[in-house]
Amino acid sequence: MCGIVGYLGDKQATDVVIEGLAALEYRGYDSVGVAFISKDRAGKVVKQAGRVESLVPLVKQQALAGCHISIGHTRWATHGLPNSKNAHPHANNDNTIFVVHNGIIENYQELRDQLIKIGYNFYSETDTEVIPNLIDYYNKKTGSLEQAIRDTLNDLSGAFAVAILSTLEPDTIYAARVSSPLVIGVGENQDYILASDPNAIMEHTKKVIFLDDNDLAVIKKGKLKISDFKANTAKDPKVELLDYDQEKASLGDFPNFMLKEIFEAPQTIKTATLGRVLADEGIIKLGGLESINAQLRYIDRIVIVACGTSYYAGMVGEYLIEELAGIPVEVQQASEFKYRHEPFSRSTILLAISQSGETADTLAALEKVKDFGCLRLGVVNATGSSIARLTDAGVYCHAGPERAVASTKAFIAQVTVLTLIALYLSKGEHKSYRKLLKELELLPEKAKAVLDQANEIKRIALKYKDSSEFLYIGRTILYPCALEGALKLKEISYIHAEGYAAGEMKHGPLALIDKNFPTFALATNSAVLEKTLSNIEEIKARGGPIIALATLGNKKIQPLADEVIYLPETLEQTQPILAALAMQLFAYFVAEAKGLDIDRPRNLAKSVTVE
Ligand code: G6P
Repeated sequence: MCGIVGYLGDKQATDVVIEGLAALEYRGYDSVGVAFISKDRAGKVVKQAGRVESLVPLVKQQALAGCHISIGHTRWATHGLPNSKNAHPHANNDNTIFVVHNGIIENYQELRDQLIKIGYNFYSETDTEVIPNLIDYYNKKTGSLEQAIRDTLNDLSGAFAVAILSTLEPDTIYAARVSSPLVIGVGENQDYILASDPNAIMEHTKKVIFLDDNDLAVIKKGKLKISDFKANTAKDPKVELLDYDQEKASLGDFPNFMLKEIFEAPQTIKTATLGRVLADEGIIKLGGLESINAQLRYIDRIVIVACGTSYYAGMVGEYLIEELAGIPVEVQQASEFKYRHEPFSRSTILLAISQSGETADTLAALEKVKDFGCLRLGVVNATGSSIARLTDAGVYCHAGPERAVASTKAFIAQVTVLTLIALYLSKGEHKSYRKLLKELELLPEKAKAVLDQANEIKRIALKYKDSSEFLYIGRTILYPCALEGALKLKEISYIHAEGYAAGEMKHGPLALIDKNFPTFALATNSAVLEKTLSNIEEIKARGGPIIALATLGNKKIQPLADEVIYLPETLEQTQPILAALAMQLFAYFVAEAKGLDIDRPRNLAKSVTVE
């Protein structure tokens, strides 16, 4: 969501911070700002609505060479419009304390009212502005900036990560977190770089310290002190090595990251299965699960929690695990799971799926069952992320960094990994086990064959780009794919799209159908194809245009549909991957034809770190 970067060291601090913000901008991008202490020890803030690149010339004008300490922020608005007034950093009334903040201060209104009563003024609509003013209040009371920050942090409720800079101590950055990630990179020459996401750090160093909840870090050149601000006890910083592949965010020949990431699908499937699928030997190797084999024996239920695209991948996983491994699965939106009062036993696994590994609701779901004694597993893409670190075991997606807000290759990787997990849990006993292992090896080529149809899919997308609504339908394992297809179209093309189980059409949605309401029907070869074809007939009879996804060679579909996109023949269990790919391309080309900002759709963020 929002992004925090801070730097203290020998380099030009504002340059490092701006570079870091650019690396994080895919997470939130409605406004941006930096604070820095100049050579003459004055504190300055430069901020505005818009993107990081628009801030660069302004900062260059103001932050002359010799600026060695700075903090910065890219914002995704929670409280108040995205304008320069609400952009971070926020300062106290004396303009001596500057704060950047991710998350939400839930009791900000109460704190703000108290501060107003004692004479403080507020200039923004944000929850953040209470922080520098409260620090100011305590600082004037105690005479110690560190104590003032500690007192302030103890007054805040909610989830937050903050970085604080002050002219009162111009050589120090303070940083703290509760349920919102912050990581400190230990650079060369005793410099430090702080960020809410390791992506902003890995250019500089792989040596990092992940802050835990309630940690307060006091960062000075060559000196780092970490303490628990609640217990007021010192802690030893634990330095870890990032095992990220330092893949630079380069577009190559692609116009944007979404298209690039869609076209990475064949490689994504290969990487997710590499060393894990040994088709000739009939073996699935998942190191993360082997370590918990003994516990897996007692499992009688799996609850999957996730958000957005990961949630739909989880629903595909539900079909796969139930069919292949015979274990009952329930999939819940993490935001709902947290507040439900359902019975949860030790023999249930909580499986969290997340691309970023930082989604607040998914993290909260894992926290909720912390003391239940159950296994907490993860299917995560970002190694070293909060969810990866919080879970007992799991299987990484290895899809590499995903930059476009709308998730594409991560979905492909998640579904691939869930197929592997289902096969692993089946202990080789399902009749399709061997066939499926073989199919996974063939799948990258089949994904390529779908991508080869990009021009044809583009032609169809152009035909339907002006529709104001869309229905996506599918049955069984393709039902969650229909939901994901609709989500993709909504996210990037702003067309209202709904996913529906094809069998539910007659129970309401059919009333919507007319010649202006197209349906995208997932009708590949399966045990339920005839049923889906009947649903398509019903739509056609009401004049609704139909785009069908069908298996190559299917002749029955042609007379029913206005357009057909053919997918290579594959097993039913692997159809979601190929179907998703075709729908990703469709949504992409619609958004492209509408001239929209595909990688950064309005109002959305890549990583949702607030509830
Ligand atoms: C946001 C992103 C989606 C993503 C969802 C869950 O809404 O825009 O693309 O699917 O968060 O994110 P996660 O990182 O947990 O998979």
